[in-house]
Amino acid sequence: MKKLYDEVYKESIENPEKFWANEANKIHWYQKWDKVLDIVDGHYRWFVGGKMNTCYNALDIHIDQGRGGENALIYDSPVTNTKKIYTYYELRDEVAKTAGMLANKGVKKGDTVVIYMPMIPQAVTAMLACARIGAIHSVVFGGFAANELAIRINDAKPDVILSASCGIEVAKVIQYKPLLDEAIKLSTHKPTTCFIYQREQYVADMTTDRDVDWLQEMTKTKAVDCVPVDAIDPLYILYTSGTTGTPKGVIRSNGGHCVAMKWSMDNVYNAKTGDVYWAASDVGWVVGHSYIVYGPLIGGCATMIYEGKPVRTPDPGAFWRVCEEYKVNQLFAAPTAFRAIRREDPEGEWAKKYDLSSLKTIFVAGERCDSPTLHWTKKITSKDVMDHWWQTETGWAIVANPIGLEPMEVKPGSPTKAMPGFNLQVLDADGKECEAGTLGNLVLKLPLPPSCLMGIWQNDTRYKRSYLEFYDGYYLTGDSGYIDKDDYVWVMGRMDGVINVAGHRLSTGEMEEVVAKHPDIAECAVIGIDDQLKGEQPMGFVVLKEGATIDDETLIKDVVQLVRKEIGPVACFKIATVVDKLPKTRSGKILRGTMRSMADGKQWNMPSTIEDKTVLPDIEKSINDLGFPIKNKG
Ligand code: COA
Ligand code: AMP
Repeated sequence: MKKLYDEVYKESIENPEKFWANEANKIHWYQKWDKVLDIVDGHYRWFVGGKMNTCYNALDIHIDQGRGGENALIYDSPVTNTKKIYTYYELRDEVAKTAGMLANKGVKKGDTVVIYMPMIPQAVTAMLACARIGAIHSVVFGGFAANELAIRINDAKPDVILSASCGIEVAKVIQYKPLLDEAIKLSTHKPTTCFIYQREQYVADMTTDRDVDWLQEMTKTKAVDCVPVDAIDPLYILYTSGTTGTPKGVIRSNGGHCVAMKWSMDNVYNAKTGDVYWAASDVGWVVGHSYIVYGPLIGGCATMIYEGKPVRTPDPGAFWRVCEEYKVNQLFAAPTAFRAIRREDPEGEWAKKYDLSSLKTIFVAGERCDSPTLHWTKKITSKDVMDHWWQTETGWAIVANPIGLEPMEVKPGSPTKAMPGFNLQVLDADGKECEAGTLGNLVLKLPLPPSCLMGIWQNDTRYKRSYLEFYDGYYLTGDSGYIDKDDYVWVMGRMDGVINVAGHRLSTGEMEEVVAKHPDIAECAVIGIDDQLKGEQPMGFVVLKEGATIDDETLIKDVVQLVRKEIGPVACFKIATVVDKLPKTRSGKILRGTMRSMADGKQWNMPSTIEDKTVLPDIEKSINDLGFPIKNKG
């Protein structure tokens, strides 16, 4: 008899090793594990002693099972007018040759490789090629500036980087190669080889003795086979934002990740072998890692690389056109994408022009999904819309509606219930468990299930400090929320300086560090405020140094440009103002929460701990002068 959610969840919490060992039998192993779970100094290592290969589980296994002729990867690029479909045979051959190209330059198991690519098939083949030979990839999102790329190069220390000459953002050609050159100039660690995929929209200059033309190299290269790796060997490092300015390199292992991907494809997404699964994200984010590349392929689905936006490429019907054309079965996007479509097509006229009958379910994640967006998306598509909550650190859903296991009633605003292995609890500041319905810190009682981070690259202290030391025996998610009496989880927002702009995770602390570099600025604060399209957007407050003569307008232009140059356009840092003083408590803490309430038009009170009562009214006036809170938010 099929087990239902309650039973499966209970089993996973009470006997995690038995539960996950059973699930692990659903992927391919060259050699089974000796120990299901080993905990070493705060590190959760699943399937120790097991040998497998993630690329084998994503590609070769399907060929070995007779499905090589089925579609594996669909590339649709409205910005270049290109469409291309790869079967599993074709994708495997491409990946095996790319792996050969890396091996020819000496890349081997355990080496790091940085990938800085636009949304083209080669981004996927690059990642899988690394996995094939046991190299550890670190993909950097294209919207980050050279400085951010340099930070990651310095931390990951790759000898080899894979990149492309350019990306295309709607109609703008973004020259990636000059950004890469600049990053390498900035970094102290220097790679020895950069493979550059030249695109016709911009052909980059090559640096002699370092740069290699990717396509030419492929013609000289032989395919290589999968290399068995240990389950606990890292598959990738993915940098994500935290409270401080330095990004954290989340380490994901091979074995646990593969097992969790398989479980989630079956149970969270209800995706079947042969389905067309489309995560409209970017390979630079965790959604792209888990559900553009690994999950769908491990699940035997066809996955999509879409080089376009939900709107303007060319119209708000873009998503629906793709769903019809490729008979997409599962669509996964950030709520921002649907808000963008709604803004341009409020009545859903574009959706009516296309046949969406293949589409079974729509999934949203990456940021809080507001109920109006959820209702609207459901109404115009007549599909169920499932919210689910997770983070880079977990790699898959902490909370979801497990429609492949037991579909549950949707409560708009709640991503539903905790997934197996995630012992989710709500604790107050003193570490006491909160009652049902009471807001607190969302934490995971240890151990963490497979796929969750093995640590932070090169920084074990930060791993422990960021996640494990806040509450003894628990992992701190950084989100606040509550669990209601029906066990539904409600995620309310971050407790730290992390904000979500269009589903992109950014650190206000990092923005503050950049803004503070301006020679005329004495101190500054950056907060996240509500944004109707992107969920949140940053707002900066700067205090001038004594004697600074720069005019406010020039200063604001300078800091906006500085953030764009140092972090990248993706930060969307566009609003800032000059103030006389920042509001602080007597102990010197900036009252960011109060400032946010003001900008969002929420009730705020004068905190009793405030150092100077005159500051907050001045701040409120500055916020009003910027046009916030926005009236008639609708
Ligand atoms: N490479 C280079 N630049 C990039 C980039 C990339 N991969 N992705 C974004 N950028 C740039 C954009 O060109 C833009 O630059 P600009 O300030 O010069 O215009 C800036 O970063 C902000 O980009 P974006 O957040 O995409 O804003 P937008 O106004 O161009 O588009 C939406 C708005 C809503 C259409 C867009 O944000 C969107 O599609 N959101 C969906 C979110 C999503 O998929 N998130 C993934 C996480 S699950
Ligand atoms: P990232 O690591 O980039 O995936 O960002 C993770 C963060 O995004 C989480 O810690 C949450 O703050 C937020 N987030 C992701 N999904 C959701 C969701 N479904 N509801 C609310 N917040 C979400």
